Amino acid sequence: MDEKKSKKPVYTLPTNKEKYALLKEKEKEALLGGGEDRIQTQHDKGKLTARERIHLLLDEGSFEEIGKFVMHRCKDFGLDQQYYPGDGVITGYGTVNGRLVYVFSQDFTVFGGSLSETHAEKIVKLMDLAMQNGAPIIGLNDSGGARIQEGVVSLAGYADIFFKNTMASGVIPQISAIMGPCAGGAVYSPAITDFIFMVENTSYMFVTGPNVVKTVTQENVTAEELGGASAHSTKSGVTHFACANEAVCINEIKKLLSYVPQNCEEDAPVYPYEVKEDETVAKLNDLIPDNPNKPYDMKEVINGIVDADSFLEVHENFAENIVVGMARIGGRSIGVVGNQPASLAGVLDINASTKGARFVRFCDCFNIPLLVLEDVPGFLPGTDQEWNGIITNGAKLLYAFSEATVPRITVITRKAYGGAYDVMNSKHIGADMNYAWPMAEIAVMGAKGAAEIIFRKEISAADDPEVKLQEKIDEYTGKFANPYRAAHRGYIDEVILPEDTRSKLIRAFKMLENKVATLPRKKHGNIPL
Ligand code: HXC
Repeated sequence: MDEKKSKKPVYTLPTNKEKYALLKEKEKEALLGGGEDRIQTQHDKGKLTARERIHLLLDEGSFEEIGKFVMHRCKDFGLDQQYYPGDGVITGYGTVNGRLVYVFSQDFTVFGGSLSETHAEKIVKLMDLAMQNGAPIIGLNDSGGARIQEGVVSLAGYADIFFKNTMASGVIPQISAIMGPCAGGAVYSPAITDFIFMVENTSYMFVTGPNVVKTVTQENVTAEELGGASAHSTKSGVTHFACANEAVCINEIKKLLSYVPQNCEEDAPVYPYEVKEDETVAKLNDLIPDNPNKPYDMKEVINGIVDADSFLEVHENFAENIVVGMARIGGRSIGVVGNQPASLAGVLDINASTKGARFVRFCDCFNIPLLVLEDVPGFLPGTDQEWNGIITNGAKLLYAFSEATVPRITVITRKAYGGAYDVMNSKHIGADMNYAWPMAEIAVMGAKGAAEIIFRKEISAADDPEVKLQEKIDEYTGKFANPYRAAHRGYIDEVILPEDTRSKLIRAFKMLENKVATLPRKKHGNIPL
């Protein structure tokens, strides 16, 4: 009996101290991601690591990690010999300027940041937490896409994320930063989020890469040309911000967050602002040229109206004929939409309409009041526009404004012609306050075109048709190229001097801050997509 006993192996249970040491060791291992060599490679490419990015984004010491030791479950293609704690994505929460945010950051040093079943589960869990607790989620993307060794399981993981992105849309702000590759179907998660930031020269997004493009269309194109920050900020409009480097990118994300509320039930933060007796801005009186056909820069008007240095332009280099961005007026967040006479005379085209519509809907989702600065000669004519659907796309902007229930104010700075007058947040589609500057021209069309149509017979019968035409143009201009006809009807609430605009708007937005407006009961509307 004794002999038997002595043959039993003797286990010495680890002490608590040893268990604490083991935890420290495992934590140290997790911090290294794919290892020092791969971290060095990441740095050599001019990229930060996933953890360095989180460190830059969040307030010092505020990050709490979730799922640090999660491992993949794949046994195929040698993966049962390769495990990295965290499985290529770091997830958790922390604060940005004291406000709660959730963040996931893909770790390119672990299997190229590729998305496995467990990697996806970590992101989905974070999105659930963000939605349940009503705080923004920020995704820092740097990934080779679906974990190739896992096959369909990885695709399922992507679909789970896309579905959550859709469920979270309009509930919490969702922000994506692309800081490396983002290809294939992986692009659709950022695409559903509210804002995409890209880093110049080190990030790209495309559904199919240069090799597939070459095979299918015989085009020779580099990854940067096809889907770099420049392409997507100027040509496709996929990205809202193109940033010079990762530090700038993270800073811009923080700036953007300062304008938005935590979720759809809250208002954006209000910054201390002392309203002065007199908010007159004299230089606004001199911004618009006497000649109505001369351009000016609407951004100068915006900067003259909103709080100093508060304008954060969105989609700066895409569809420049419309300007959109966040700003503050009297310390309160607003979304600004302005036609830009300095680009294509401020005409509305397909890209301008979709850019404006998406921005209006973001602001409306998150209770951010809208200011519209209008100087629009109409919609852009031509086969290109018609055949590519200016009707459907223009209707998006019309629909977005019509449906918005946030406080909405329009200032017509100069032209408001044709259907574009209706579309650009007119009184008729629900704007709360409509102002016009004295040089506003509100009419069905420009005076020359109008005179040529309605006085055609009279002009051709005249002894001197040229003189007659000019006479009729002057008559039409005198009647309609002003804001007073619209003001007589109450379509314009007040004609104001440019210099008084800022003070009028501070008061009007304050007056509207408790606005309650509801839409008819429905499942959801059917915006013309
Ligand atoms: C598993 C991957 C991976 C992936 C990269 N790696 N992508 N592992 N699945 N998708 C691994 C590499 O094997 C390598 O491992 C490490 O990550 C770094 O990759 P490199 O190729 O050395 O880096 P680099 O030269 O910078 O090139 C990056 C890259 C390239 C351009 C992303 O890795 C690449 O083309 N990867 C495949 C991309 C792809 O086709 N993904 C699937 C797309 S389809 P070691 O051990 O050597 O460090 C898709 C569908 C999503 O994503 C659909 C959703 C609906």
